[in-house]
Amino acid sequence: MFKVNENYLKLPGSYLFSTISKKVNAYTAEHPEAKIIRLGIGDVTQPLAPVIIDTLHSAVDEMGNAETFHGYAPDLGYEFLRSAIAENDYKARGCDISEDEIFVSDGAKCDCGNIQEIFSLDNKIAVCDPVYPVYVDSNVMAGRTGVYDKNTGTWSNVIYMPCTADNGFAPQLPKETPDLIYLCFPNNPTGATITKAQLQEWVDYANKVGAVILYDAAYEAYISQPDIPHSIYECEGARTCAIEFHSFSKNAGFTGVRLGYTVIPKDLKAGDVSLHSLWARRHGTKYNGAPYIVQRAGAAVYTKEGREQLMKQVAYYMNNAHYIYNGLKEAGFTVSGGVNAPYIWLKAPNGMTSWEFFDYLLERVNVVGTPGSGFGPSGETYFRLTAFGSYENTVEAVDRIKNLKV
Ligand code: MLT
Repeated sequence: MFKVNENYLKLPGSYLFSTISKKVNAYTAEHPEAKIIRLGIGDVTQPLAPVIIDTLHSAVDEMGNAETFHGYAPDLGYEFLRSAIAENDYKARGCDISEDEIFVSDGAKCDCGNIQEIFSLDNKIAVCDPVYPVYVDSNVMAGRTGVYDKNTGTWSNVIYMPCTADNGFAPQLPKETPDLIYLCFPNNPTGATITKAQLQEWVDYANKVGAVILYDAAYEAYISQPDIPHSIYECEGARTCAIEFHSFSKNAGFTGVRLGYTVIPKDLKAGDVSLHSLWARRHGTKYNGAPYIVQRAGAAVYTKEGREQLMKQVAYYMNNAHYIYNGLKEAGFTVSGGVNAPYIWLKAPNGMTSWEFFDYLLERVNVVGTPGSGFGPSGETYFRLTAFGSYENTVEAVDRIKNLKV
């Protein structure tokens, strides 16, 4: 008789954004007249930039001709995309990353979830609390997290690094030594960032204790202030301790197109074993690459027109972020984030829990956000709003919340 992977049975509830979606669908079924504004999941709403559309069209045409047709993509991704990434995201920032250290994929979520496979089950992970649920859930599925305590919402074999208002939502070096450290800056969900000097401390720490930092840079395009690193490889020594994940979802609106990449420097080793070669082995065995058409569109992101058009798109969302931040602050909410990130992190009013505030907003003003507790125990009583809606919906949502006078 077959057996299932029992680790899956340990997962409490469904994936956060699936739970939200089910709740919203149930509400909509009962209130079909409600004009729901969704500022929950960080999904973009603006159309793809013109240069991306043109590139997609011409890549599709190439696929219709025997001379320009493309079948399976090369294991690591097409050279034209990897060299554009190496040049623009790394060399231009003074980071020593070469194109053969870049693995193109269909998005950062899959890579963040899958990367744990190349590490032993004995490794202990450290995560920020609150945290993007994929990091923890994928380790639960693998059987690395121990036992779940539903009273505290924590796993016995995970090191939690609370990110609270008291520490500016920046994790402190943990007391217990981890093997794998997940960091995401600008942060999802709090929208907080850390300076290059703070990130350098993490790199020094990881090198000292022999840990690997799994650095999620999905939101780097939203950095507006100087001295905030766009890549962990801006820090000295990161080549021997860090893996970095990038997404094209947030900077170029590819949530429905799917493209991302992961960087594993060849200097990152466990003894003689290079993590690059393990990931290359996994990639070769389990993955056939992002579509040619999509990789072509990804390369268009780095062209002059691409940069100009996408800068405007990021500015559009950041304008929403400022509108939410300022509007809620005026209305008396305690808010943070929204300066270097498309997420606004606010305190639920009047002592409400995160889910109470979720229901309250859904039922009273038909606005959907994300309950902070869904990201971890330190997220309780917080709430996340995304700036990825349309400007019109964002303004309306903020006005509706302001009129609540909670
Ligand atoms: C989020 O809302 O946290 C993100 O959209 C999730 C993701 O990028 O997978």
